Amino acid sequence: MKEYFEFQNKTKILAGKKALENLPSEFDNFRVKRPIILTDRGVNKAGLVDKVIKACGGADVIFSAIIDDIPQDSSTEEVNKIAEIYNEKKCDGIIAIGGGSVIDTAKGVNILVSEKGKDLKEFAGAERLKRPLRPLFVIPTTAGTGSEVTAVAVIKDDKSATKLLFTSRYLMPDVAVIDPRMTITLPAYLTALTAMDALTHAIEAYTCLQKNLFSDVYAWKAIELISKNIVELVKNGKDKEKRLEMAIAATMAGVAFSNSMVGLVHSLGHAAGAVAKIPHGVAMNIFLPHVLKFNYEEIKEELKELLLPLAGEEIYVKTNEKERARKFIEKIEELQEKLNKLTKLPKTLKEAGVKEEQLEKIAEKAINDGSLTLNPKDVTKEEALRIIMKAYK
Ligand SMILES: [Fe+2]
Repeated sequence: MKEYFEFQNKTKILAGKKALENLPSEFDNFRVKRPIILTDRGVNKAGLVDKVIKACGGADVIFSAIIDDIPQDSSTEEVNKIAEIYNEKKCDGIIAIGGGSVIDTAKGVNILVSEKGKDLKEFAGAERLKRPLRPLFVIPTTAGTGSEVTAVAVIKDDKSATKLLFTSRYLMPDVAVIDPRMTITLPAYLTALTAMDALTHAIEAYTCLQKNLFSDVYAWKAIELISKNIVELVKNGKDKEKRLEMAIAATMAGVAFSNSMVGLVHSLGHAAGAVAKIPHGVAMNIFLPHVLKFNYEEIKEELKELLLPLAGEEIYVKTNEKERARKFIEKIEELQEKLNKLTKLPKTLKEAGVKEEQLEKIAEKAINDGSLTLNPKDVTKEEALRIIMKAYK
Protein backbone atom coordinates (compact mmCIF):
# COMPACT_ATOMS: atom_id res chain seq x y z
CA MET A 1 0.00 0.00 0.00
CA LYS A 2 1.12 3.58 -0.60
CA GLU A 3 2.82 5.29 2.32
CA TYR A 4 0.71 8.38 1.84
CA PHE A 5 -2.11 9.47 -0.43
CA GLU A 6 -4.91 12.02 -0.62
CA PHE A 7 -8.49 11.60 -1.70
CA GLN A 8 -11.18 14.23 -2.05
CA ASN A 9 -14.69 14.60 -3.41
CA LYS A 10 -16.44 17.72 -2.21
CA THR A 11 -19.25 17.59 -4.79
CA LYS A 12 -22.71 16.91 -3.41
CA ILE A 13 -24.40 14.36 -5.63
CA LEU A 14 -28.15 14.43 -6.22
CA ALA A 15 -29.00 11.15 -7.98
CA GLY A 16 -32.27 9.54 -8.97
CA LYS A 17 -35.27 9.67 -11.25
CA LYS A 18 -36.48 12.96 -9.73
CA ALA A 19 -33.10 14.43 -8.86
CA LEU A 20 -33.65 17.71 -10.77
CA GLU A 21 -36.54 18.72 -8.49
CA ASN A 22 -34.05 18.98 -5.59
CA LEU A 23 -32.02 21.75 -7.23
CA PRO A 24 -33.99 24.72 -5.79
CA SER A 25 -33.02 23.88 -2.23
CA GLU A 26 -29.37 23.80 -3.37
CA PHE A 27 -29.74 27.29 -4.85
CA ASP A 28 -30.95 28.38 -1.40
CA ASN A 29 -28.08 26.61 0.34
CA PHE A 30 -25.59 28.52 -1.78
CA ARG A 31 -27.65 31.78 -1.71
CA VAL A 32 -27.76 31.86 -5.50
CA LYS A 33 -30.41 34.17 -6.99
CA ARG A 34 -29.16 35.05 -10.48
CA PRO A 35 -27.46 32.04 -12.04
CA ILE A 36 -26.27 31.90 -15.63
CA ILE A 37 -27.10 28.74 -17.61
CA LEU A 38 -24.41 27.37 -19.94
CA THR A 39 -25.34 24.74 -22.50
CA ASP A 40 -25.09 23.85 -26.19
CA ARG A 41 -27.52 24.00 -29.09
CA GLY A 42 -28.18 20.26 -29.22
CA VAL A 43 -29.02 20.06 -25.52
CA ASN A 44 -31.28 23.10 -25.73
CA LYS A 45 -33.02 21.80 -28.87
CA ALA A 46 -33.62 18.45 -27.19
CA GLY A 47 -35.65 20.33 -24.57
CA LEU A 48 -33.29 19.52 -21.71
CA VAL A 49 -32.83 23.14 -20.59
CA ASP A 50 -36.64 23.51 -20.43
CA LYS A 51 -36.80 20.36 -18.32
CA VAL A 52 -34.35 21.83 -15.82
CA ILE A 53 -36.15 25.19 -15.70
CA LYS A 54 -39.51 23.43 -15.24
CA ALA A 55 -38.15 21.24 -12.47
CA CYS A 56 -36.88 24.41 -10.76
CA GLY A 57 -40.36 25.97 -11.03
CA GLY A 58 -40.67 26.79 -7.35
CA ALA A 59 -37.16 28.19 -7.01
CA ASP A 60 -36.64 31.77 -5.94
CA VAL A 61 -34.18 32.53 -8.77
CA ILE A 62 -33.94 34.45 -12.04
CA PHE A 63 -31.97 32.74 -14.79
CA SER A 64 -30.19 35.93 -15.77
CA ALA A 65 -28.63 34.61 -18.99
CA ILE A 66 -28.77 31.44 -21.06
CA ILE A 67 -25.74 30.81 -23.30
CA ASP A 68 -26.65 27.95 -25.62
CA ASP A 69 -23.94 28.07 -28.27
CA ILE A 70 -20.97 26.46 -26.56
CA PRO A 71 -19.17 24.44 -29.27
CA GLN A 72 -18.07 20.81 -29.03
CA ASP A 73 -14.46 21.71 -28.47
CA SER A 74 -14.69 24.88 -26.44
CA SER A 75 -11.77 27.31 -26.30
CA THR A 76 -10.20 29.92 -24.04
CA GLU A 77 -11.70 32.66 -26.23
CA GLU A 78 -15.16 31.24 -25.69
CA VAL A 79 -14.59 31.23 -21.95
CA ASN A 80 -13.30 34.82 -21.94
CA LYS A 81 -16.45 35.94 -23.83
CA ILE A 82 -18.90 34.19 -21.49
CA ALA A 83 -17.14 35.54 -18.39
CA GLU A 84 -17.82 39.06 -19.69
CA ILE A 85 -21.54 38.27 -20.05
CA TYR A 86 -21.58 36.80 -16.53
CA ASN A 87 -20.16 40.03 -15.14
CA GLU A 88 -22.41 42.30 -17.23
CA LYS A 89 -25.55 40.46 -16.08
CA LYS A 90 -24.38 40.41 -12.46
CA CYS A 91 -24.77 36.65 -12.16
CA ASP A 92 -23.97 34.93 -8.88
CA GLY A 93 -23.59 31.28 -9.83
CA ILE A 94 -23.27 28.94 -12.82
CA ILE A 95 -25.47 26.08 -14.00
CA ALA A 96 -23.83 23.86 -16.61
CA ILE A 97 -26.19 21.61 -18.58
CA GLY A 98 -24.30 19.46 -21.07
CA GLY A 99 -21.38 17.19 -21.77
CA GLY A 100 -17.67 17.63 -21.14
CA SER A 101 -17.18 20.72 -23.26
CA VAL A 102 -20.01 22.65 -21.58
CA ILE A 103 -18.94 21.60 -18.09
CA ASP A 104 -15.27 22.42 -18.65
CA THR A 105 -16.27 25.77 -20.17
CA ALA A 106 -18.29 26.47 -17.02
CA LYS A 107 -15.24 25.66 -14.89
CA GLY A 108 -13.14 28.02 -17.02
CA VAL A 109 -15.73 30.79 -16.71
CA ASN A 110 -15.82 30.18 -12.97
CA ILE A 111 -12.06 30.69 -12.74
CA LEU A 112 -12.24 34.02 -14.55
CA VAL A 113 -15.27 35.48 -12.75
CA SER A 114 -14.03 34.38 -9.34
CA GLU A 115 -10.43 35.47 -9.83
CA LYS A 116 -11.48 38.61 -11.74
CA GLY A 117 -9.15 37.64 -14.58
CA LYS A 118 -9.37 38.63 -18.24
CA ASP A 119 -7.61 35.77 -19.99
CA LEU A 120 -8.07 32.14 -18.97
CA LYS A 121 -4.64 31.12 -20.27
CA GLU A 122 -3.03 32.84 -17.27
CA PHE A 123 -4.55 30.22 -14.98
CA ALA A 124 -3.54 27.09 -16.90
CA GLY A 125 -1.58 24.43 -15.05
CA ALA A 126 -1.72 22.75 -11.67
CA GLU A 127 -2.93 24.34 -8.43
CA ARG A 128 -2.94 27.92 -9.67
CA LEU A 129 -6.14 28.81 -7.78
CA LYS A 130 -5.91 29.99 -4.20
CA ARG A 131 -9.51 30.34 -3.04
CA PRO A 132 -13.02 28.86 -3.51
CA LEU A 133 -14.84 29.85 -6.69
CA ARG A 134 -18.50 30.85 -7.30
CA PRO A 135 -21.21 28.19 -6.82
CA LEU A 136 -21.23 25.72 -9.71
CA PHE A 137 -24.13 23.33 -10.36
CA VAL A 138 -23.57 20.69 -13.00
CA ILE A 139 -26.20 18.65 -14.79
CA PRO A 140 -24.50 16.18 -17.15
CA THR A 141 -26.37 15.20 -20.31
CA THR A 142 -23.89 12.49 -21.25
CA ALA A 143 -22.63 9.68 -19.06
CA GLY A 144 -18.96 9.99 -19.81
CA THR A 145 -16.59 12.75 -18.84
CA GLY A 146 -17.19 12.68 -15.09
CA SER A 147 -16.39 16.39 -15.19
CA GLU A 148 -19.32 16.99 -12.80
CA VAL A 149 -17.10 15.77 -9.94
CA THR A 150 -13.53 16.32 -11.12
CA ALA A 151 -10.90 18.85 -10.14
CA VAL A 152 -9.87 19.10 -13.77
CA ALA A 153 -10.80 21.12 -16.85
CA VAL A 154 -9.42 20.72 -20.36
CA ILE A 155 -9.89 23.72 -22.63
CA LYS A 156 -8.43 24.34 -26.07
CA ASP A 157 -6.13 27.24 -26.79
CA ASP A 158 -7.03 28.22 -30.37
CA LYS A 159 -3.74 29.90 -31.17
CA SER A 160 -1.44 27.00 -30.29
CA ALA A 161 -3.98 24.20 -31.10
CA THR A 162 -3.12 22.77 -27.69
CA LYS A 163 -5.42 21.49 -24.98
CA LEU A 164 -4.70 23.38 -21.78
CA LEU A 165 -5.06 21.45 -18.56
CA PHE A 166 -6.35 23.16 -15.42
CA THR A 167 -6.22 21.27 -12.14
CA SER A 168 -7.27 22.56 -8.73
CA ARG A 169 -9.46 21.23 -5.96
CA TYR A 170 -11.44 24.47 -6.29
CA LEU A 171 -12.62 23.34 -9.73
CA MET A 172 -14.75 20.56 -8.24
CA PRO A 173 -18.39 21.57 -8.78
CA ASP A 174 -20.53 22.16 -5.70
CA VAL A 175 -23.50 20.08 -6.84
CA ALA A 176 -23.87 17.39 -9.52
CA VAL A 177 -27.34 16.27 -10.58
CA ILE A 178 -27.55 12.74 -11.96
CA ASP A 179 -31.03 12.40 -13.42
CA PRO A 180 -31.82 9.79 -16.12
CA ARG A 181 -34.16 12.26 -17.88
CA MET A 182 -31.01 14.12 -18.94
CA THR A 183 -29.43 11.19 -20.80
CA ILE A 184 -32.50 9.29 -22.00
CA THR A 185 -32.44 10.94 -25.47
CA LEU A 186 -28.71 10.45 -26.03
CA PRO A 187 -28.32 8.65 -29.40
CA ALA A 188 -26.75 5.17 -29.45
CA TYR A 189 -23.48 6.38 -31.00
CA LEU A 190 -22.96 9.02 -28.31
CA THR A 191 -24.04 6.60 -25.61
CA ALA A 192 -21.31 4.23 -26.78
CA LEU A 193 -18.49 6.75 -27.09
CA THR A 194 -19.20 8.54 -23.81
CA ALA A 195 -19.42 5.20 -21.99
CA MET A 196 -16.04 4.22 -23.43
CA ASP A 197 -14.61 7.47 -22.06
CA ALA A 198 -16.00 6.63 -18.62
CA LEU A 199 -14.68 3.07 -18.85
CA THR A 200 -11.24 4.41 -19.76
CA HIS A 201 -11.32 6.76 -16.77
CA ALA A 202 -12.03 3.86 -14.45
CA ILE A 203 -9.38 1.58 -15.98
CA GLU A 204 -6.69 4.26 -16.05
CA ALA A 205 -7.58 5.31 -12.49
CA TYR A 206 -7.15 1.72 -11.33
CA THR A 207 -3.85 1.19 -13.12
CA CYS A 208 -1.99 4.51 -12.94
CA LEU A 209 0.74 5.45 -10.47
CA GLN A 210 -1.44 7.58 -8.19
CA LYS A 211 -4.10 4.91 -7.60
CA ASN A 212 -5.17 4.39 -4.00
CA LEU A 213 -7.65 2.27 -2.10
CA PHE A 214 -10.41 4.89 -2.24
CA SER A 215 -10.12 5.56 -5.97
CA ASP A 216 -9.92 1.79 -6.55
CA VAL A 217 -13.37 1.30 -5.03
CA TYR A 218 -14.99 3.91 -7.27
CA ALA A 219 -13.16 2.63 -10.35
CA TRP A 220 -14.09 -1.00 -9.65
CA LYS A 221 -17.82 -0.31 -9.25
CA ALA A 222 -17.82 1.98 -12.29
CA ILE A 223 -16.30 -0.78 -14.46
CA GLU A 224 -18.91 -3.26 -13.21
CA LEU A 225 -21.85 -0.91 -13.92
CA ILE A 226 -20.59 0.22 -17.33
CA SER A 227 -19.90 -3.32 -18.43
CA LYS A 228 -23.31 -4.48 -17.21
CA ASN A 229 -25.23 -1.76 -19.07
CA ILE A 230 -23.33 -0.48 -22.09
CA VAL A 231 -24.42 -2.88 -24.84
CA GLU A 232 -28.03 -3.07 -23.69
CA LEU A 233 -28.25 0.72 -23.51
CA VAL A 234 -26.85 1.10 -26.99
CA LYS A 235 -29.58 -1.29 -28.19
CA ASN A 236 -32.34 0.33 -26.14
CA GLY A 237 -31.65 3.81 -24.81
CA LYS A 238 -35.08 4.24 -23.23
CA ASP A 239 -34.39 2.14 -20.14
CA LYS A 240 -34.37 4.67 -17.28
CA GLU A 241 -32.89 2.30 -14.73
CA LYS A 242 -29.93 1.50 -16.97
CA ARG A 243 -29.50 5.16 -17.90
CA LEU A 244 -29.31 6.03 -14.21
CA GLU A 245 -26.80 3.27 -13.48
CA MET A 246 -24.64 4.32 -16.42
CA ALA A 247 -24.73 7.98 -15.35
CA ILE A 248 -23.81 7.04 -11.78
CA ALA A 249 -20.98 4.87 -13.11
CA ALA A 250 -19.58 7.75 -15.17
CA THR A 251 -19.68 9.98 -12.09
CA MET A 252 -17.95 7.30 -10.00
CA ALA A 253 -15.25 6.95 -12.64
CA GLY A 254 -14.90 10.74 -12.44
CA VAL A 255 -14.37 10.62 -8.68
CA ALA A 256 -11.78 7.87 -9.19
CA PHE A 257 -9.67 9.60 -11.84
CA SER A 258 -10.00 13.04 -10.31
CA ASN A 259 -8.01 11.61 -7.41
CA SER A 260 -5.71 9.11 -9.06
CA MET A 261 -5.49 10.78 -12.50
CA VAL A 262 -5.34 9.07 -15.89
CA GLY A 263 -2.53 7.95 -18.20
CA LEU A 264 -1.36 7.32 -21.72
CA VAL A 265 -4.79 6.67 -23.29
CA HIS A 266 -5.71 10.22 -22.35
CA SER A 267 -2.38 11.70 -23.49
CA LEU A 268 -2.89 10.15 -26.90
CA GLY A 269 -6.57 11.16 -26.92
CA HIS A 270 -5.85 14.79 -26.05
CA ALA A 271 -3.18 14.91 -28.76
CA ALA A 272 -5.42 13.27 -31.38
CA GLY A 273 -8.20 15.68 -30.43
CA ALA A 274 -5.96 18.72 -30.80
CA VAL A 275 -4.27 17.63 -34.05
CA ALA A 276 -7.02 15.75 -35.89
CA LYS A 277 -10.17 16.90 -34.06
CA ILE A 278 -11.20 13.36 -33.10
CA PRO A 279 -13.93 13.39 -30.45
CA HIS A 280 -12.51 12.44 -27.07
CA GLY A 281 -14.59 9.29 -26.54
CA VAL A 282 -13.75 8.02 -30.03
CA ALA A 283 -10.05 8.40 -29.26
CA MET A 284 -10.46 6.61 -25.92
CA ASN A 285 -12.20 3.69 -27.62
CA ILE A 286 -9.47 3.40 -30.26
CA PHE A 287 -6.41 3.76 -28.01
CA LEU A 288 -7.54 1.81 -24.94
CA PRO A 289 -6.58 -1.78 -25.94
CA HIS A 290 -3.30 -0.66 -27.55
CA VAL A 291 -2.23 1.17 -24.38
CA LEU A 292 -3.24 -1.77 -22.16
CA LYS A 293 -0.92 -3.94 -24.26
CA PHE A 294 1.88 -1.37 -24.08
CA ASN A 295 1.57 -1.03 -20.28
CA TYR A 296 0.96 -4.77 -19.84
CA GLU A 297 3.96 -5.80 -17.71
CA GLU A 298 3.37 -2.94 -15.26
CA ILE A 299 -0.39 -3.42 -14.90
CA LYS A 300 -1.05 -7.14 -15.35
CA GLU A 301 -1.82 -7.68 -11.64
CA GLU A 302 -4.47 -4.94 -11.74
CA LEU A 303 -5.96 -6.19 -15.01
CA LYS A 304 -6.19 -9.67 -13.52
CA GLU A 305 -8.34 -8.27 -10.71
CA LEU A 306 -10.43 -6.13 -13.00
CA LEU A 307 -11.56 -9.10 -15.07
CA LEU A 308 -14.11 -9.75 -12.32
CA PRO A 309 -16.07 -6.47 -12.58
CA LEU A 310 -15.60 -6.34 -16.36
CA ALA A 311 -16.60 -9.87 -17.33
CA GLY A 312 -18.51 -11.16 -14.29
CA GLU A 313 -17.99 -14.04 -11.91
CA GLU A 314 -18.54 -16.90 -14.33
CA ILE A 315 -15.85 -15.86 -16.81
CA TYR A 316 -13.50 -14.79 -14.01
CA VAL A 317 -13.69 -18.17 -12.30
CA LYS A 318 -13.43 -20.11 -15.56
CA THR A 319 -10.31 -18.22 -16.66
CA ASN A 320 -6.97 -19.56 -15.46
CA GLU A 321 -5.27 -17.06 -13.17
CA LYS A 322 -2.35 -16.59 -15.56
CA GLU A 323 -4.74 -15.80 -18.41
CA ARG A 324 -6.93 -13.26 -16.63
CA ALA A 325 -5.02 -10.11 -17.57
CA ARG A 326 -4.94 -11.10 -21.27
CA LYS A 327 -8.62 -12.04 -21.05
CA PHE A 328 -9.34 -8.54 -19.76
CA ILE A 329 -7.84 -7.00 -22.91
CA GLU A 330 -9.69 -9.53 -25.07
CA LYS A 331 -12.96 -8.52 -23.44
CA ILE A 332 -12.24 -4.85 -24.15
CA GLU A 333 -11.59 -5.74 -27.80
CA GLU A 334 -14.82 -7.75 -27.91
CA LEU A 335 -16.71 -4.77 -26.55
CA GLN A 336 -15.06 -2.51 -29.14
CA GLU A 337 -16.20 -4.95 -31.84
CA LYS A 338 -19.79 -5.03 -30.58
CA LEU A 339 -20.04 -1.24 -30.36
CA ASN A 340 -18.59 -0.93 -33.84
CA LYS A 341 -21.23 -3.31 -35.22
CA LEU A 342 -24.07 -1.59 -33.38
CA THR A 343 -23.11 2.08 -33.85
CA LYS A 344 -20.13 2.20 -36.25
CA LEU A 345 -17.98 3.63 -33.46
CA PRO A 346 -14.54 3.70 -35.17
CA LYS A 347 -11.97 1.10 -34.11
CA THR A 348 -9.05 2.69 -35.91
CA LEU A 349 -7.68 6.20 -36.38
CA LYS A 350 -8.06 5.73 -40.13
CA GLU A 351 -11.79 5.04 -39.78
CA ALA A 352 -12.01 8.12 -37.55
CA GLY A 353 -10.66 10.26 -40.40
CA VAL A 354 -7.10 10.81 -39.21
CA LYS A 355 -4.55 11.38 -41.99
CA GLU A 356 -1.31 9.41 -42.04
CA GLU A 357 0.73 12.63 -42.14
CA GLN A 358 -0.82 13.68 -38.80
CA LEU A 359 0.48 10.68 -36.84
CA GLU A 360 3.89 12.09 -36.01
CA LYS A 361 2.41 15.34 -34.75
CA ILE A 362 0.04 13.37 -32.51
CA ALA A 363 2.99 11.43 -31.05
CA GLU A 364 4.90 14.63 -30.42
CA LYS A 365 1.97 16.27 -28.65
CA ALA A 366 1.12 13.13 -26.67
CA ILE A 367 4.50 12.86 -25.00
CA ASN A 368 4.20 16.45 -23.81
CA ASP A 369 0.70 15.94 -22.40
CA GLY A 370 0.22 16.30 -18.63
CA SER A 371 -1.65 12.98 -18.30
CA LEU A 372 1.53 11.08 -19.10
CA THR A 373 3.26 11.76 -15.80
CA LEU A 374 1.25 9.12 -13.94
CA ASN A 375 1.21 6.46 -16.63
CA PRO A 376 2.72 3.28 -15.11
CA LYS A 377 5.40 3.16 -17.81
CA ASP A 378 7.57 5.87 -19.38
CA VAL A 379 6.89 6.55 -23.04
CA THR A 380 9.29 7.85 -25.67
CA LYS A 381 8.13 9.61 -28.82
CA GLU A 382 9.10 6.55 -30.87
CA GLU A 383 7.03 4.27 -28.64
CA ALA A 384 4.07 6.65 -28.77
CA LEU A 385 4.34 6.72 -32.56
CA ARG A 386 4.42 2.91 -32.70
CA ILE A 387 1.21 2.72 -30.66
CA ILE A 388 -0.40 5.37 -32.85
CA MET A 389 0.56 3.48 -36.02
CA LYS A 390 -0.99 0.30 -34.64
CA ALA A 391 -4.12 2.25 -33.78
CA TYR A 392 -4.20 3.78 -37.26
CA LYS A 393 -4.68 0.60 -39.28
FE1 LIG B 1 -11.67 11.18 -20.68
